[in-house]
Amino acid sequence: MSGAFLSLSGLTKRFGGLTAVSDVSFGMAAGDLISIIGPNGAGKTTLFNLVTGQLPATAGRVAFKGQDITNEPPQVRARRGFGRTFQISKTLTALTTLENAMVGAFLHHRDLAAASRRAEEMLELVGLGARAGIKAGNLTLSERRRLEIARALALDCSVLLLDEVMAGLNQTEVADVIALVRRLHREGLTILVIEHNLKVVRAFESRVIVLDFGAMIADGMPEAVLSDPNVVEAYLGRKRT
Ligand SMILES: Nc1ncnc2c1ncn2[C@@H]1O[C@H](COP(=O)(O)OP(=O)(O)OP(=O)(O)O)[C@@H](O)[C@H]1O
Ligand SMILES: [Mg+2]
Repeated sequence: MSGAFLSLSGLTKRFGGLTAVSDVSFGMAAGDLISIIGPNGAGKTTLFNLVTGQLPATAGRVAFKGQDITNEPPQVRARRGFGRTFQISKTLTALTTLENAMVGAFLHHRDLAAASRRAEEMLELVGLGARAGIKAGNLTLSERRRLEIARALALDCSVLLLDEVMAGLNQTEVADVIALVRRLHREGLTILVIEHNLKVVRAFESRVIVLDFGAMIADGMPEAVLSDPNVVEAYLGRKRT
């Protein structure tokens, strides 16, 4: 797996007696789009936290462009180009939409005007250009999700990790976010998406990794993975909380 753009090997996270992520290994080439699916509590968000450095790994390695980044803190990884959204939105509600996006832009643009320009461009890209001046607390759920994407993009990320950005959105809003993600992917961004909506995963027509009790139980294209008996059982065989 060496030489991959992003490579996870034997990545493991234990919380006391609970193994939330168990020996996960896979590699991504630059420009790949991978969906991560799995039942509630499967370890998807924890895996993201290990990749972006929000949590230290118990074992295993994360390498980016051939360099071991396993022990780097999140701000160092952000500087390397890891941008993410959070399952529980981290939008700063008292700040404007533009100011929120600027939080990302400041990582590379020290100059206020340059950071503001970069943030504005990314807000335009996600369709929030007209909402730049309003307080983020007044945005709709769908707008807040797009703002989080804009903030990640504003830090000039080269890997974007999206944690359930479609959850709670209506069909039109989901279609808009799918179109946005596909566009970013077409433009060359490397993207990891945690998603519960299997229609969304099918729409991406790209590689899917399934986690169950922290372990990878399937890895492949949607048609094969979603009809794999182990995956069907993980989803349908147990009651979800
Ligand atoms: N900081 C923590 N301390 C202790 N246990 C944790 C912590 N974070 C997650 N867990 C546990 O680890 C397991 C995996 O959680 P995680 O949030 O990664 O799952 P998930 O696949 O993202 O689930 P969901 O689909 O509900 O978002 C769960 O059992 C969860 O309770
Ligand atoms: Mg989660």
